[in-house]
Amino acid sequence: MAETTTMDKLVSLCKRRGFIFQSSEIYGGLTGAWDYGPLGVQLKNNIRDFWWKEMTQMHDNIVGLDASILMHPKVWEASGHVSNFTDPMVDCKQCKSRFRADQIDLEAACPNCGTKGSFTEPRNFNLMFSTHIGAVHDASSVIYLRPETAQGIYADFKNVVQSSRVKIPFGIAQVGKSFRNEITTKNFIFRSCEFEQMEMQYFCKPGSDEHWFSFWRDQRMAFYHKMGIKPESLRWHRHGEDELAFYAKDAYDIQFDFPMGWQELEGVHNRTDYDLTQHQKFSGKDLTYLEQETKERYVPYVVETSAGLTRNVLMVLSDAYEEQELEGGDVRTVLHFHPSIAPVTVAVLPLVKKDGIDEFATRLEHGLREDFATFYDQSGAIGRRYRRMDEIGTPYCVTVDYQTLDDDTVTLRFRDSMEQVRVSISDLVATIKKATKDYKRQ
Ligand code: GAP
Repeated sequence: MAETTTMDKLVSLCKRRGFIFQSSEIYGGLTGAWDYGPLGVQLKNNIRDFWWKEMTQMHDNIVGLDASILMHPKVWEASGHVSNFTDPMVDCKQCKSRFRADQIDLEAACPNCGTKGSFTEPRNFNLMFSTHIGAVHDASSVIYLRPETAQGIYADFKNVVQSSRVKIPFGIAQVGKSFRNEITTKNFIFRSCEFEQMEMQYFCKPGSDEHWFSFWRDQRMAFYHKMGIKPESLRWHRHGEDELAFYAKDAYDIQFDFPMGWQELEGVHNRTDYDLTQHQKFSGKDLTYLEQETKERYVPYVVETSAGLTRNVLMVLSDAYEEQELEGGDVRTVLHFHPSIAPVTVAVLPLVKKDGIDEFATRLEHGLREDFATFYDQSGAIGRRYRRMDEIGTPYCVTVDYQTLDDDTVTLRFRDSMEQVRVSISDLVATIKKATKDYKRQ
């Protein structure tokens, strides 16, 4: 990670340019919750759409789902979250701050108030948020905000099989919000209480699970390369015996070299038949699959790919950020987003705002909206406008000048190389689409 890519610089850029704000900032902020501003929501949606296309459209056997956040409380008993989804925590008796027991030295002073010997014994703390459904607030009305999207997929497994003519092996993909009552909330949006996941559960025949586990590991790493992430900033981490979740036969994380170091970005897990067997037990419903060809009936195994969408946003920002020294000692801040996920694809800039050049540029910008996310900017010197676009990662700038009025050509400027070429307006859409398809990170 380049020395310049510090978290503080990213946080500052995100706030200044409208990518990410602290939740409820005017009230002093809410820890663990973040708001995605005009550019941030576009970036997040573009990453989501890139993933969705890759997982559903590019495979012939993956279907989508959007399950509800609130589910029957028995789901979380069956999944093991009610009894197992805990972290050991300690409280400082003096200032009441709460810490994860494995993240602080219990013999040392409280990191918040400095009192020594003030910690309680570690106690298990469930990470699920609970609330009540209906008018009565008692133990029978407790429900949970889902801590992962995966369980909605298992709960709908039978519905999808019966309604979609899918045949094993097949996958169900889902993107949505998840909630965890996390205590560690430093590192910006890396770990938050409200976040989004992009998960896919691949149902396969027992015995074929190791093949599909390896297949999906390859696919998922290839996805990040395709999204333009620097390969040297990604690596695999295989879970040791002590890290494996109780349901997993094998698990690998894709880690990214974040500004604070290597951390998990996505998990690929072999979950065996654990989840469907549990839901079968707790619901009393048959969740087996009948293989038509062999008449064999079995509970499918599951290979899961589980990525954080909001964590992907942080990865993409960290990976894209550069303070680049230019000839003459000038420095530009540039976000090298892949053009397919950049919040703005094309900026249209009239060289001057007179002599019909601004009207021409406005018409051109409107014409490009059908194909691209566009932005029109006529204020300030052209060099400063280019810098503003570099800073939000806009891959293409189109400049309209006096020559345009004569011959219907414009200047097309590429963000990464800063190269400028003269392009006929009739070729502009095709040229930009081709450059996006052929894009290689420099
Ligand atoms: N269904 C399996 C599952 O949820 P996980 O390893 O707990 O597995 C998967 O989470 C991914 O979700 C993580 O790799 C991370 O990207 C994202 N994630 C988990 N907790 C998060 C949090 N508190 N804030 C942001 N992202 C989180």
